[in-house]
Amino acid sequence: MLPTMPMQSLLSRQWTDLKQRPFRRKLSRQETSQQLVSSVEQLESMKDCFFCHTLRYELWEVLVNDYLPNHNLNKTDATLSILDRLEGFWGDEMTLSLETLRMLVRDDKWTEAQKNANKNLKQFTYRHLDDEEARPTKYCVMVIVAPLDKGDITRDVGQELRSMMHSKGGPPPYNVVTCTSVEEALLCVLINSDIQAIVVQDLQHSINCENANAFVEDFRHLVEGYDRFVAKPIKEIHNGASIHGTLLKAIKMMRPEIHLYTVTHSQTPLLASGKGQGTLAPAPFEEDERYVDSSGDFDPSIFINREFCQLDGHLELHDTIVQGVKEKQACPFFDALKRYAEKPIGVFHALAISRGNSIHKSRWIGHFMDFYGMNLFKAESSSTCGGLDSLLEPHGAIKDAQELAAKTFGAHKTFFVTNGTSTANKIVLQAVLKPNDVVLVDRDCHKSHHYGMVLTGARPCYLDAYPLHDFSMYGGVPLETIKRTLLAYKAQGRLMQVKLLVLTNCTFDGIVINVQRVMEECLAIKPDLIFLFDEAWYAYAYFHPIYRLRTGMGAANILRHNLRSSDGPRRHTLCLQQMGVDSIDEASNDVLMNTRLFPDPAHAVVRVYATQSTHKSLTALRQGSMIHVNDDLFSQCVNAAFTEAYFTHTSTSPNYQILASLDVGRSQMALEGNLLVKGQIEAALTLRRHAAQNALIAKYFRILTVRDMIPSQHRLTSTVDHFYQEEVLKKAVQLKPSSDWKSADVRVLERLWLSDDEFVLDPTRITLYTGNSGIDGDTFKVKWLMEKYGIQVNKTSRNSVLFQTNIGTTSSAIMYLLQCLEKAALEIDGTLKFSSDRERELHQRRIDDMTIRAPPLPNFSEFHKSLGPPQPAARGKNNTHEDEGGEVLVRDGDLRTPYFLAFDESHCAYYDIKEALECINNGQELVATSFIIPYPPGFPVAVPGQVLSAAILEFLIRLDVKEVHGLNAELGLRCFRPEVLASVTPTAGPPAAVQLPAANNMNESTAHSTAPSVTP
Ligand SMILES: Cc1ncc(COP(=O)(O)O)c(C=O)c1O
Repeated sequence: MLPTMPMQSLLSRQWTDLKQRPFRRKLSRQETSQQLVSSVEQLESMKDCFFCHTLRYELWEVLVNDYLPNHNLNKTDATLSILDRLEGFWGDEMTLSLETLRMLVRDDKWTEAQKNANKNLKQFTYRHLDDEEARPTKYCVMVIVAPLDKGDITRDVGQELRSMMHSKGGPPPYNVVTCTSVEEALLCVLINSDIQAIVVQDLQHSINCENANAFVEDFRHLVEGYDRFVAKPIKEIHNGASIHGTLLKAIKMMRPEIHLYTVTHSQTPLLASGKGQGTLAPAPFEEDERYVDSSGDFDPSIFINREFCQLDGHLELHDTIVQGVKEKQACPFFDALKRYAEKPIGVFHALAISRGNSIHKSRWIGHFMDFYGMNLFKAESSSTCGGLDSLLEPHGAIKDAQELAAKTFGAHKTFFVTNGTSTANKIVLQAVLKPNDVVLVDRDCHKSHHYGMVLTGARPCYLDAYPLHDFSMYGGVPLETIKRTLLAYKAQGRLMQVKLLVLTNCTFDGIVINVQRVMEECLAIKPDLIFLFDEAWYAYAYFHPIYRLRTGMGAANILRHNLRSSDGPRRHTLCLQQMGVDSIDEASNDVLMNTRLFPDPAHAVVRVYATQSTHKSLTALRQGSMIHVNDDLFSQCVNAAFTEAYFTHTSTSPNYQILASLDVGRSQMALEGNLLVKGQIEAALTLRRHAAQNALIAKYFRILTVRDMIPSQHRLTSTVDHFYQEEVLKKAVQLKPSSDWKSADVRVLERLWLSDDEFVLDPTRITLYTGNSGIDGDTFKVKWLMEKYGIQVNKTSRNSVLFQTNIGTTSSAIMYLLQCLEKAALEIDGTLKFSSDRERELHQRRIDDMTIRAPPLPNFSEFHKSLGPPQPAARGKNNTHEDEGGEVLVRDGDLRTPYFLAFDESHCAYYDIKEALECINNGQELVATSFIIPYPPGFPVAVPGQVLSAAILEFLIRLDVKEVHGLNAELGLRCFRPEVLASVTPTAGPPAAVQLPAANNMNESTAHSTAPSVTP
C-alpha cells in the first residue's frame, strides 16, 4: 500500500525509482496491439476523438466520472492501457501517476484512485482551480537525450531540472518529458501542444532515430502531419543530414514558437562541433518534390535560443526556460496600460470619460459604468507618455508589443491597426502602389481593396474566381488564370506595370489557396511581384503546422529559405530542363502554362504582406487587426511610403483597449495557439460528422463538402473525393476497432493540405446548404437560428448559411447547434406532414427556386474603352487584348476617374433595371457609375467605369435579395451619360522596357516599376 503523501514528495520518491528504469514504459508490439484492440472495443468514446489531447481528456473524464466510481475493473484496465501510450508524451510525472493509479486499482483502493485521477483530469479544465498542483497553466518541457541504457555517464538534464524545481519548493512550473529518439521527440512535438521549450542534450552517442514504442502504429489516425513532420526528417537523417540540425529544423517547422536550448559537454557549441552527423545507413530517397520545403544547406544554430554548458549545472537553464515562457506571456502594452490605470492622474486633456469622471458626475448614466466596470474607464486614456506609447510613433510598449507580434506570426514587422482589416488593406495598397500601377486582384475581394485602388490611382485587373453557381458564391482564383494573365501582360510589354497580386486567403467560405505554389510560379514569370494575402478570416492558421504552410507568412518564410539554400538554383535548373530551355524567356506560353514553375533565385525577391482581422478569429476586440510584413525590400523601398500610408489611415486617437487586446491575443497564441486551433478543427469535424450521420438533419440540410466547393479540375489529389463525403462520414461513425478507425478525417485533412493541390477547404468553415428545406439562407439565419435558437451566424447565400468554429468554440456549443438543427428539421417535417396539397406544392416550388433556378454569377465584363487598357500600340497579336486562347486577360482599368466623375449628377442618367437590360440587348453601352454590391453574396457585380453586361443585369433581376448597395430601387440604375466618358483621355500608356535587376541589386527605382503616365 502506498502511503498518502503530498504529490510532490510522492513524485520525488518515484523519480528516484524512475532513474533505474527506462524512460517510458515500453510494451512489446504484440502486447500493444492485442491490448489496444480489446481496449478500443470497450471504449466507444474513442471513436469521436480527432486529436490526442481530446482522447486524453475523454479517457480521464470517463475514468473519473464512470469507471472508477463504479469499480468497473475491465473498463478501467482498458482505459489505463490506452493512457499508457499517451501519458508519457505529457511527462514522466504522468507515467508515474498512471502507475500509481494502476497500483491503487489493483489494491482495490477505488476512492483513492478516483481522487488521484481527478487531479489529472483537472489539468484539462479551464475553470478556476485552487489546486496549484493541477493548475492548467503547468506546461511541458521536453528533454531530448540518448537512451541511458547505453552506459552513458551523461548527467541527466531532465532529472536535474526536476530536482531543481523540487529544491526551489512550490509547485513545479512544468513537467519534464524525456524523449530518447528523434521520432519520439518529433511525435511528441506534434501531439503535445503544451510543450513550451525543448532542451537538446549534447550526446556521446547520436540520438536514436527509431520508433520508441508502438504509438504510431496504433494512433496514426490521431497524429496529423506525421509523414511530413516526423517521417520526412528521419528519412533525411538516414540520407546523411545532420541529426541535430534536422531535428531542430523539424521542430521549428511544426512549432516555431517553442524555445530551443542545447546543453553541450564542452565549451564548443554543439552545432559548431559538427557532432551528430547521421551515421545510419542511407534509406532510398523517394521524397515528393512537388511541395516540400528545401532540405538544403542551412545553419541550424539560427534555431537555437541559447546554448548551455553541461559542466555548469542547470540552474541557469531552468531559469532561462521559465523566463522564456514568461516573455511569451508578457503583454508589454496591456501591462503598461494596467500600470497607468492604477496611477492617480488628474486629467486636463480632451477625454472626459477618462477615469470615468464624466460618468461619476452623472445622475443618469451610471448604468454604463455598472455594466463595464471601472477598469475600462481607468484605462481610457489619450496619453502617449507615462509608460504608454504612441501608435503613430512607437518607441516603447507598443513597439515592444508589435515586435513580439511579428515574432509570433512569422513576420519581419507587424503593425497594429485599430480600424479593422478594411483599413489594413488600404494602408498596404497605398504603401506599395503608385498611380497607374497594375494590380491583379481577386474580383471577389473585400471592398476595401477597391476603395484602396481608387485612393492610390492604381489600375485593377480583375481576376475571376471560379464560380459556384449552385450556391451563389465564388471559390478562389485559379492559378491558371493568374499565370495566363501575367503572360498576357508580358506579351504586351506591360509586365513591368504589374506590381501586386491581391488574393483572399482563405475566403469567407473556407477556400484556401496553395500560397507557396502561387508565389513560386508567379515569381518565375515576374520575379519582383508583391503579394498581398487578405487573411482577414485566417489569423489562427499560423498556429497549426499544416495550416501554416498555406499562410502568407508561413509560405514566405519557406520560400525564402528554399530560394537561399542550394536547393533554389537546383530546382530552378530542373524546371528549365523540364521545359527544354536555358531561360524562362525562351519558353512558349503553352510550355510555361503546363510546367510547375520555380523562380530564378538570382532574381526572385520575397515580398509578402498579410492583413488579418485578429478580432475575427483570435482574442481581440472588434476592429483589432494586424498587418504582417515579410518583404525583403521593405526598408529599402517601402518604409517611407508605408509610414505615410499608416499616417493617412490611422486615427490620432487610437483606442487603447483594442491595442491591449491585440497584445493579449498575441500572447495567447504564442502560448496555446497550437492547442486552440486543434480544438477549433476538432469542433468542426465533430459537427460535420454528426450532422451527416443524423438522418433527420440530413433530410433537409447538408454540409457542403470539398467536392461541392472545389471543382475537380482544381484538385488533383484523388483522395479528395472521399473527404467529408457522406458515405465516408457514415462509415466513420460505425468504425470498428480494426484498421477502419485508423483512417479518420484528420489523416485525410493532412493528405489534402500537404499536397500540391491548388485549393483546399478549411473544414472549420461549415456551409450548411438549406436548399432542400425550402428556406433561404437569410430567412434561416434570422427567423430560425437567431430568433428561435439565439444562434448567431455571419454570412448567408441564397441557399446556405455559414457556420464557423473558432478558438473559443465549446463542445457544448456544437452539441447545441446539432440539437437546433435537429429541432428545425423536426419542425419542417411536422409542418409538411400536416400540409395541404397546395401548401406542399408551394413548398416544392420554393425548393426548386433555391436548388434548380439559381441565376448564374456574372463574370467581370470590361472597363469602358476610355478607361481600359491602352490602345493599339501596346496591344498584342491581332491588335487585341485577347490571348492565344481568345480570352481577354489584359483588362486593367482606371477606377479613380469614373469614381470622381460620378460625383457630378449631370454626368449621370437613371434607368429602370429591366429597361437597362433592353437597352443593352439593343446594342447600347451602359457604364456603371458606382460599385453595385448585392448582399448576399457581397462582392461588386459592377465597379465604377465597368460596362454593364446583360449577364450582370439578369443576375440583378433574378437575385432575390433585399440589400443591393449602390442601387437605389426607386431611382433606378445610375449610369454615365455616353458623352461624359467619350471625353475622357486614356491614362495608361505603354511602359518603357525596364531590365530586371538581380534580386540582390534591387533598389527603389528598379524594384518599383515607375508609372508610365500619371493623370494630373
Ligand atoms: C476578405 C475580407 N477582408 C477584409 C475584411 C474587412 O475586415 P474588418 O471587418 O476587420 O475591417 C473583410 C470583412 O468581412 C473580409 O471578408
